[in-house]
Amino acid sequence: MDQQPHVLILPFPAQGHIKPMVGLAALLCHTGRIHVTFLNTDHNHSRLTHLQALSTLFPTLHFKSISDGLPTDHPRTLQFFPELISSIKSVTKPLFRELLADSSRKSERPVTCVIADGIMSFAIDVAKELGVRVIAFRTFSACCLWSYFCLPNLIQEGQLPVGADEDMDMMVAGVPGMEGLLRRRDLPRICRIQLNDPLFQFFLVETQAMTRASALILNTFDDLEASILSHLAPLFSKIYTIGPLNALMRSRIGDGVPRSLSTFSNLWEADNSCMAWLDSQPLGSVVYVSFGSLAIMTRGFFMELWHGLVNSGKRFLWAIRRDTLSDAKGEQAIPVELQEGTKERGLLVDWAPQEEVLAHPSTGGFLTHSGWNSTLESIVAGVPMICWPQIGDQQINSRWVSEVWRIGLDIKDTCDRSTVETMIRTLMKDGREEIMMSMDRIAKLARDCVGQGGSSYHNLDMLIEDIGKI
Ligand code: UDX
Repeated sequence: MDQQPHVLILPFPAQGHIKPMVGLAALLCHTGRIHVTFLNTDHNHSRLTHLQALSTLFPTLHFKSISDGLPTDHPRTLQFFPELISSIKSVTKPLFRELLADSSRKSERPVTCVIADGIMSFAIDVAKELGVRVIAFRTFSACCLWSYFCLPNLIQEGQLPVGADEDMDMMVAGVPGMEGLLRRRDLPRICRIQLNDPLFQFFLVETQAMTRASALILNTFDDLEASILSHLAPLFSKIYTIGPLNALMRSRIGDGVPRSLSTFSNLWEADNSCMAWLDSQPLGSVVYVSFGSLAIMTRGFFMELWHGLVNSGKRFLWAIRRDTLSDAKGEQAIPVELQEGTKERGLLVDWAPQEEVLAHPSTGGFLTHSGWNSTLESIVAGVPMICWPQIGDQQINSRWVSEVWRIGLDIKDTCDRSTVETMIRTLMKDGREEIMMSMDRIAKLARDCVGQGGSSYHNLDMLIEDIGKI
């Protein structure tokens, strides 16, 4: 039997989870000594049309797929999240057990380690049951993860849920290390729903379950979140901080992969025409706008944002997925001033090649939903942010961006045209100097940690070494 390490990587089936995990898979396979089977759902596997190219670059990387239990034509959008998690548990879990058991019984190269998404805890249980080592990979920030671990404490103290009519600016006590910083409105979005809601319970249970894994991988870096990592450390026997993964890939693999990992791990096809448009814009003049892969918004918010962008008088590139609008209500003709302002200074695309856009010299700011990948990509590119967080971890990420790292402005819970306009002007002009001083410092820390001798570079070596111990 082949004694080379064989890692099975299982992401949660969403863009923001698949992308960093594909990055990790490539980094492991780049060693040439580790075999990786990357397990997508059948649905996502059929959308990821460039995976074969990645297998050609990394011959020890293989892709397989498994059912998520939902019918082919199911929309699988954010509104249906509870259906997805329930069907994964009832349908995917037994299939996963069969696949892993078959690997031990029949395969020439049995799986020696499972790396499971931090919200796919069934895989931790199955791997342990079958005697396979398992490591959890939580794809978001350490600060959000730590706040999730403190939820039982917050419940016990009667601080949750946070009702819509409560004072959202009140400071939260009960999350050690965040005193005087965390307001109610900065808590992860689930804190605003009922405690018996299946979604709240899901995250509560999944967070605790992660500690059953033998170690934890985080896409963050020590210099960015050191104080919070020290709170998480006692909960896990080992934490490998190996972020920002997109920068670590570039540092470790270099020209072996195209500039952006997105080419391979995108669930949407990027509209590259915006790069030529950026080429024709002045240096640092464009605000890039994107709300990631899951966020949805009402038509009312969409129009407020659009007015704010146009009224700011700045140039903008807006990546707006076709499924972003949560309602068709109030559909009406686009006001002339929006049409003209956009024609003069803006460009709208369905899906942008985000990492290339952020790295482009014409891009000067990022109006973002504060998804963790987007936040890290902005840091790596040294582009300051305006944060308009929507769901999950984004509320807390944006607080860190504005108050801890001071590399952006947080406009959570307010979305009117005048706030958007004012904040864009502040970011691009009046308040820029101060924000850029912090941004340059943090971007340098990000670059240093992925270079030889840096913490993430070193931690990846440790992970590779530990995976190698069969
Ligand atoms: C959400 C969370 O907020 C995130 O923190 C969590 O870990 C996963 O779920 P998502 O909405 O996908 O994620 O945002 P984000 O984490 O920022 O990831 C989006 C990815 O899509 C980024 O890597 C970004 O580069 C890419 N993207 C987005 C594009 O390539 N083009 C686009 O037009 C928009």
